Formats: sequence, structure tokens, C-alpha cells
Amino acid sequence: MKVGVLTGGGDCPGLNAVIRAVVRKGEQEYDYGFIGFKDGWRGLVEGATVPLDIPAVRGILPRGGTILGSSRTNPFKTENGVRRIKENLAKYEVDALVAIGGEDTLGVAAKLYEEYGIPCVGVPKTIDNDLNATDYTFGFDTAVGIATEAIDRLHTTAESHMRVLVVEVMGRHAGWIALHSGLAGGANVILIPEQRFDVDQVCAWVTSRFKASYAPIVVVAEGAMPKDGDMVLKDATKDSFGHVRLSGVGEWLAKEIEGRTGKEARTTVLGHIQRGGTPSAFDRWLATRFGLHAIDAVRDGDFGKMVALQGTDIVRVPIADATAKLKTVDPELYKEVGVFFG
Ligand code: F6P
Repeated sequence: MKVGVLTGGGDCPGLNAVIRAVVRKGEQEYDYGFIGFKDGWRGLVEGATVPLDIPAVRGILPRGGTILGSSRTNPFKTENGVRRIKENLAKYEVDALVAIGGEDTLGVAAKLYEEYGIPCVGVPKTIDNDLNATDYTFGFDTAVGIATEAIDRLHTTAESHMRVLVVEVMGRHAGWIALHSGLAGGANVILIPEQRFDVDQVCAWVTSRFKASYAPIVVVAEGAMPKDGDMVLKDATKDSFGHVRLSGVGEWLAKEIEGRTGKEARTTVLGHIQRGGTPSAFDRWLATRFGLHAIDAVRDGDFGKMVALQGTDIVRVPIADATAKLKTVDPELYKEVGVFFG
């Protein structure tokens, strides 16, 4: 049995821990051979491979990024993409694929399995934590930790200068990072993509915070939108999955706050810092368990499935269940956190 492994979409801390666990258990327990495909689906379409065996995965557990590389290549938008994938699977004698990715990468895996019978097992990753059917994706805990530390640091400088500090965090469709880091970091306003925000209300919270003689921290997810306007974008170019490059709302909001309240407002965009570096202990634990269960799904011939965390158990769910609908922040949960605004 030869198993192909690829990592697609935005990188996230814990990808290497999955690769290590898949290879370690597959080779040691089941005597499988492995081959890595470089840069997500691009490697499989173009036949770009990386040798993968136990020596190749030694020492990678705490390393961020992915030893296989990643890209947002969509084989369904690439000329003869599926035909080339099939040819390369035959050429490299690959019997099964482990695809590690988010909504887009797993959406491709689900389609390849359902429409072309390509045997895929999915492993969910994204710092955004917006994949359905799993309680958590690895990478999220690390990102929340990084954002929380940044908010903690920004409190002291905001208070020294009595400035509003707007912190823009990642979160395209879901505000999980904003919500968790904002709550953990004691933010005074948290804005998420799921709920359009009212700039006047934000300014009222900012003003009331200054009355308590502290400087406010406003956490805004990059995908958050004002009530009476569109998404603020610096760059409307789309990737091959149709996503625009986000970021800009933080800067826009700081200008609005400054103009309306007369208080100095500055922005910090955390950007890719949230995705970089070593994974947290929780993410190493989750990614490793996902990897161990993914190779078991391959052994069982349970294709078209994704490993998922439900409670403390790792279960298998149809990949399509995870990609059909995103897991977004429940309005009730957002309301619960609102007691700390202002
Ligand atoms: O999907 C994860 C994510 O980090 C999003 O939060 C963000 O919008 C996007 O990736 C950024 O992608 P890129 O690194 O391609 O700019």
C-alpha cells in the first residue's frame, strides 16, 4: 500500500505533526510506503513529489508551516486538472490519499472521491476553526494564543498614550479567533464577520471606556463588515477558489473612530504572525491524534471521510459534511460576550 500526503490552503501550526503521525503509524504498524505531493493539489496535478518516510519526519513535531509546502491550487480550475491527478496517482502507484486542509482543499477531496472514485481521507486544518463537523481544528489554539498575547501587550501601550488600539485578526467568514482572543485578552469591543457592526455603537463603547479612564482595545476580524457598507478591501484580486485577499477593515475603523470621537486611534494588523511558528501543546496533541486516526481510516478503506474532534473523541464524518456549511459563531454566544463591551 502506498499513501500520498498533501497539505493545501493557508498553512497552519500543526500540519507537520499530522504528517509525522500519519507516516510514523503507517510505516511502523502497517508497513505502508508514503509519498508527499508538493504544494497541495499543485503537486498532484504537476507530479511534484517529496520523499516521505520515518527519517524524513523526524524532528518536525514542533515546527510550524509544512514540510510539504502549500498552495491554493484548485485542480478543477486547472486545465486537465483531474486527468493529470489520475495520471500521477497511477504513475506514482498511489493507492490512497491523505489530504490535510480547510474548506477548499477538503472540498476538492470530497469531489474527487464522490465524482471520480479517488480514495481520499481528509484531515481538517484551519486557524479560523470554521470547519463544520469538528469541534476544533488544529492551528486555532496557537492563533488564539498569539492574538491574546498581542492584545495583552497592546493594553499597556494603549493606556500609556490613552489611545484607541484596533487589533485586526484573521477570520474570513467566522469570528472565532476574534471572539476567543478578544475575550481572553479583555478587549472592550469584539467585531466578527457573522454580525454587521454599527460604527456609532463602537464609538459609544470607546467613549464609555475612556470615561472609566482606560484606553480601549477593539478587536476586529478581517471579515467583519459595517452595517451600512461593504467589506473593506485593499485588494480585490481573487484566488482560484474565488476568495479575495482580506485586511483593511482595522485601518478603516480606526479612521472612523478617530474622526467621530476625536480620540487618537491606531491599528495593529496581526496577519500571518497568527499562522507562523511553533504549534501550541493542544494543537500538537490534536494534530497528532488526527494523523493517527487518518491512517487508520486508510487501513479500513473508509474513504470519503474526514477525521473530526467531537468532545474528546476522534470520529470519522463524511468530508462533504464538513465542507457543505461553515461553522460560524452563534449569535447567542456573541451576545454572551457582549457584557464586556464598552
Ligand atoms: O483560511 C485561513 C486564513 O488564515 C484566513 O483567516 C485568511 O483570510 C486567509 O487564510 C489568508 O490567506 P493568505 O495567506 O493566502 O493571504
